[in-house]
Amino acid sequence: MNKNPIEIIMKAEETNNLEKEEIVILLQSDEHNDELFKTADRIRKKNVGDEVHLRGLIEFSNICKQNCLYCGLRRDNENIQRYRLEPETIIEFAQKAVSYGFKTVVLQSGEDSYFSVDRMTHIIKEIKALGIAITLSIGEKTKEEYKAYKEAGADRYLVRIETSDRELYEKMDPGMDFENRLKCLEYLKEFGYEVGTGCLIGLPGQSLESLANDILFFKKINADMIGIGPFIPNHDTPLKDADGGSFELALKVMAITRLVLPDINIPATTAMETINPNGRVIALQSGANVVMPNVTEGEFRKMYALYPGKICVGDSPVKCKSCITDKIEDIGRTISQDQGFRKKKSCNCSGGCCKNS
Ligand code: 5AD
Ligand code: SF4
Ligand code: FES
Repeated sequence: MNKNPIEIIMKAEETNNLEKEEIVILLQSDEHNDELFKTADRIRKKNVGDEVHLRGLIEFSNICKQNCLYCGLRRDNENIQRYRLEPETIIEFAQKAVSYGFKTVVLQSGEDSYFSVDRMTHIIKEIKALGIAITLSIGEKTKEEYKAYKEAGADRYLVRIETSDRELYEKMDPGMDFENRLKCLEYLKEFGYEVGTGCLIGLPGQSLESLANDILFFKKINADMIGIGPFIPNHDTPLKDADGGSFELALKVMAITRLVLPDINIPATTAMETINPNGRVIALQSGANVVMPNVTEGEFRKMYALYPGKICVGDSPVKCKSCITDKIEDIGRTISQDQGFRKKKSCNCSGGCCKNS
């Protein structure tokens, strides 16, 4: 095992493999951050190129039956104005996103039971007919539901593990079962979705060892997409007085994820930009290759208040599209014109993960 951070980074660039202790060493010291970020950027360029994939995010309901301690949409939060968009409105927003040039939409909501299998499959089929890729981010569902959504035309599914530490997970997400979360990810893989997961950085009680385990978990399940963001304390939740996660640490976890999963899609997340005004561009230069601009129209964006200070709440889809396009082109990158599926490359690791999947 290597103890020298520079050697660890070099080893990762060659093998795309790291041991837990090596990841912890990288997370502990900030002395070699520049080298880490530059290496992640090189690996990104070599494996997924200079194209940035835009995914149009539709936040269609902020009603949630869950009660995650960190999240503003939790069911016990009475200080939030709730909304849900009608299926026809969701389809209309997707049509508009297509007219703005998006090749993928992400349908995201709290865990809202109003959206039954019938309603969801109707929405998916109508949007699929527009000729774009569909990502769902609607939480834990039954195996049958995941199957029905895939058959209706959904291509990808995001369900963050939030933390791979079972005890911390069950503390942060009361009433939720870590085993079930793992099962959800398994079913999604089984049905052929591109599977996205990810974690929060800086949850109370979360250690660097725990973050190293998160990265190894992403590698173990061979996730297709990984979204990483700092935890931002929300004044309307039980964690209002907690310290939030730092931008640098979130960026490091993201960059190390790129080292070990060279060909996956990694978004520069909205939460990163919320705590650093140039956060998405910095993330794009440290391993990320995806951005998810908000395409929700009207006043709903500010009501989808996961955390305070969320960017773009007063902006329109057209404004966000052109704003992010400019930022991407200013750093010499291009906007992808395809649907941005993961193009798997076999890595150098001995695990055989890529060759088997
Ligand atoms: N800070 C940052 N991210 C949050 N999320 C929920 N609440 C917060 C918060 N306070 C993230 C969770 C969830 C995603 C939709 O939003 O990781 O999976
Ligand atoms: Fe609901 Fe997701 Fe927020 Fe948890 S993180 S309360 S499941 S919207
Ligand atoms: Fe929304 Fe810049 S991406 S205003």
